[in-house]
Amino acid sequence: MRLFIAIELPVEVKKMLARLQREIPGARWVPMEQLHLTLSFLGEVDDATCELLTGKLSEIAVSEFNLRFSGSGCFPTSRHPRVLWAGLAEEPLLTNLADMVRKAVLLCGIPQEERPFSPHITLARFRQPAGKEVSAFLEKHQHMALPAFNVLEFILFQSQLTPHGAIHIPVRKFPLLLTK
Ligand code: 2AM
Repeated sequence: MRLFIAIELPVEVKKMLARLQREIPGARWVPMEQLHLTLSFLGEVDDATCELLTGKLSEIAVSEFNLRFSGSGCFPTSRHPRVLWAGLAEEPLLTNLADMVRKAVLLCGIPQEERPFSPHITLARFRQPAGKEVSAFLEKHQHMALPAFNVLEFILFQSQLTPHGAIHIPVRKFPLLLTK
């Protein structure tokens, strides 16, 4: 199974993000229902490792938290964008959750990126350069007015590759700790 771990977004937030998705030549916009905040990408994982992993993920104890949006940007650079994203304001509980998730994944023998966690929601991907249009998008959406949202759980997803693109199937949901 091809797996990743992510935070699901409320449907109102997804709808608002989808409204930002306007014409940029060559952009492959992420379908609205698939917009998510990735905590960890695992790639192909066998059933035994998946079982070990779900055990470790269920031991993670982090309290529920609130997330706010903070601008938009590109990877690797806005001149040569491969990925266009909506950013999230720093939240120590999110950083903590991402750290714990990645440690659990590493403990199962699955390699993780060395780069520090940079919370973002991928809006579009590019095969061809679209630097000018992307810069215009970034300028227009410097101060995106999107609602904050509560994070109550994180989810282990299976990404099934089909001829029409990937389908994301929740494998297991892990609730965060109630704050009150
Ligand atoms: P991102 O778009 O949030 O950056 C599900 O496929 C998610 O896993 C994607 O949304 C992507 O995160 C991440 N992902 C997919 N393929 C990846 C890869 N080869 N390396 C790292 N992350 C990947």
